[in-house]
Amino acid sequence: MSKVLFVNACNTAESYSHQIASVFVDEYTKKHANDEIETINLYEEDVKFLTVSEIKKRQSLNYKENKDEETFKYVKQFLDADKIIIAAPFWNLSIPAILHAYLEHIAIDGVTYQSTLKGSVGLSQGKKIVHIVTRGIYSSSVEYGDSYLRAFFASLGIKDFRTIALEGTKVHKGQEEAFFNRSAQMAKNLAEVW
Ligand SMILES: Cc1cc2nc3c(=O)[nH]c(=O)nc-3n(C[C@H](O)[C@H](O)[C@H](O)COP(=O)(O)O)c2cc1C
Repeated sequence: MSKVLFVNACNTAESYSHQIASVFVDEYTKKHANDEIETINLYEEDVKFLTVSEIKKRQSLNYKENKDEETFKYVKQFLDADKIIIAAPFWNLSIPAILHAYLEHIAIDGVTYQSTLKGSVGLSQGKKIVHIVTRGIYSSSVEYGDSYLRAFFASLGIKDFRTIALEGTKVHKGQEEAFFNRSAQMAKNLAEVW
């Protein structure tokens, strides 16, 4: 049995990214009936960016001895998961700020990665990530969202990173359904074998 964490960084249930992620999650659930899926909705959770006092607090605590402290809530949930689904729209060439705030909670030196003279050594190996994103326009020359997440998770030691991306939601008026259906099919196909 695998534990799956669905990180929902979409601000509405109607969002394209969320709808495609829902197709993925539904298909995954059908095809992997024994797996357990936990969802974290970052907006409902109202995830806050790290404050100075929060950083000091978590630096003063040994994770292994204090896993149940509030400050380690998100990293503990992340570490418990074998597979992580991230649904997030493309905002300002990158990811929504609330997703960045969430990443600040799970990137902890000595817990999910280790700083060394040779760079970051990932301590979160073996996990899989799928990133589901939609973009308003074709953005490959200015894409800093998926590429950032890929680099971020690689620094934690996670190399198995897949992407389902739908581009052009703002410029293909009238063809939304066809575009959505194509991405939904890609989501179904991946969910079956992931
Ligand atoms: C705050 C904000 C910033 C955005 N920035 C970009 C952008 O930089 N490039 C782009 O192609 N689309 C941008 N968009 C458009 C969204 O990427 C597009 O509408 C996408 O399909 C939204 O996904 P969603 O329906 O899952 O929310 C932006 C939209 C919002 C609301």
